[in-house]
Amino acid sequence: MKAAELKRRYLAFFEKKRHAVIASASLIPEHDPTVLFTTAGMHPLVPFLMGQPHPEGRRLADVQKCIRTGDIDEVGDATHLTFFEMLGNWSLGDYFKKEAISFSFEFLTEELGIPLERLGITVFAGDDDAPRDEESAGIWKSLGIPASRISYRPKKDNWWGPAGATGPCGPDTEMFYWSSGDSAPEAFDPDDARWVEIWNDVFMQYNKKEDATYEPLSQKNVDTGMGVERTAAMLQGKKSIYDTEALARIAAKVRELATLSGEESVKSERVITDHLRAAVFILGDEHRVTPSNLDQGYVLRRFIRRAIRHGHCLGIEGNFTAAVAKDIIDAYREEWPEVGMNEAFILDELQREEARFLQTLQNGLRRFEEMATKDLSGDEAFLLFQSYGFPIEMVVELAKEKGISVDRRGFDHAFALHQERSRVGAEKRFKGGLADASDESRKLHTATHLLNQALRNVLKDDSIRQMGSNITPERLRFDFNFARKLEKAELQAVEDEVNANIARDLPVRVKEMTVEEAKGAGAQGVFEHKYGERVFVYFIGDYSVEICGGPHVSSTQELGRLKIRKEESISAGVRRIKAVLVER
Ligand code: ALA
Repeated sequence: MKAAELKRRYLAFFEKKRHAVIASASLIPEHDPTVLFTTAGMHPLVPFLMGQPHPEGRRLADVQKCIRTGDIDEVGDATHLTFFEMLGNWSLGDYFKKEAISFSFEFLTEELGIPLERLGITVFAGDDDAPRDEESAGIWKSLGIPASRISYRPKKDNWWGPAGATGPCGPDTEMFYWSSGDSAPEAFDPDDARWVEIWNDVFMQYNKKEDATYEPLSQKNVDTGMGVERTAAMLQGKKSIYDTEALARIAAKVRELATLSGEESVKSERVITDHLRAAVFILGDEHRVTPSNLDQGYVLRRFIRRAIRHGHCLGIEGNFTAAVAKDIIDAYREEWPEVGMNEAFILDELQREEARFLQTLQNGLRRFEEMATKDLSGDEAFLLFQSYGFPIEMVVELAKEKGISVDRRGFDHAFALHQERSRVGAEKRFKGGLADASDESRKLHTATHLLNQALRNVLKDDSIRQMGSNITPERLRFDFNFARKLEKAELQAVEDEVNANIARDLPVRVKEMTVEEAKGAGAQGVFEHKYGERVFVYFIGDYSVEICGGPHVSSTQELGRLKIRKEESISAGVRRIKAVLVER
């Protein structure tokens, strides 16, 4: 079964089970400064797992774009990816273990036709925080899984979450598939690599607090996750995820461009395939992240530059990232229209970054050769990063080829200092939960809506829309499309208009409606939603209408006064404003 078919079947199955199919959220978490990328399907749903009602109801399913960089050094083998698509179904305080496990079992054995003999199950063994999960084991047995195929595992294996430092989490039960051609042994051993994990059902009924203790959530939730590429590979009997449709097509393009081959060629092909795919999806996201030395932009830069270096290992001549990206876009434009819509931007940014890197690559390599007579210190690795833009993974790889080591901790230390210095004053990351609902953030969130509207009014441009937003308790950051720098007088006029509306003490009201009704009401922010979906729409008096998940203040007077601190360009056609709220 092809990956596209797997996704279609999964969503149709859960739709039949009365789940609302929702759109994938952005790869860049909104209003969540504690993580750089969306790492799981549950990540955008945290407020709803914590108890806030979701406009689409209590049963949801989707395909979510995810990025995990934890395994970036592993990419190149048969199973690791940085960008991947995750299938998931959720119960927000609706069904629990019995239905969740029965749905999983039915989908695996009936929809996908996996024989019972090829399934193994793990469940939580229990500890001081939560009891042994006999309930889940009992449900699996009642469905026909023999006791010898159920393994009880400790927290490190069978507990999932929270996605950040705090938040919803709980014990899970994982489903494994016997991937070998031989018949499966009677006893199930999850440590045997031939048993491949394909799906995870998490019973999210706890909230992990800052002091690392767990408290029961107000509702019992189910969160599940199934990796599309991995499951497709399994269903197709492929040993490597790079042999599934889209990835195979991209890897073939890379092979076509290569002029050298050697022992490490397959690894290089895979690194290029994975990293450029991740880069295309980051650049193709509505937030328009561009390569830089900070945060998401730095991860993007590492993906692109490491891919370029592996291109050189394969003897690829000339600039090639855009040519490969074109194939990636073609492979995905139907399923993920945003990569098609942002095609020109994606290709342009890749070409620019490739040109920038090539300017420093040769000098950097020369410098590296000079240093590489002995092991590299953290400061030397940092110099290669700072002066020549060499990502750390690349320095480590170069060192490995020379048989020398790199003081990675020393590098991390120097890098952390650099990042800290790069962040302006109060713009520090704050510790805490994923869904930050402090009073300050709430106010800044409402202020963001006012700013969004004021920009359209003052600049007399109705096509202006939000390209990104990030709020910490200290400041708001708002990205929007506009072709040129704003004049001082224009910025002042925007600030004045926001403050005039704050002074009007406008009420903030929320209404639930369909996307079409929201559009009819002139709402901003319809990008991620699909036809028929129900959404929350926030009205600030008669001034602003925006689709949004909240939270907001109840009247604008609470905001004080807005001060714009900075206006700058972040990429072609995209401007960024940073602003704070001060006492009136
Ligand atoms: N959130 C769970 C996971 O990522 C389902 O495995």
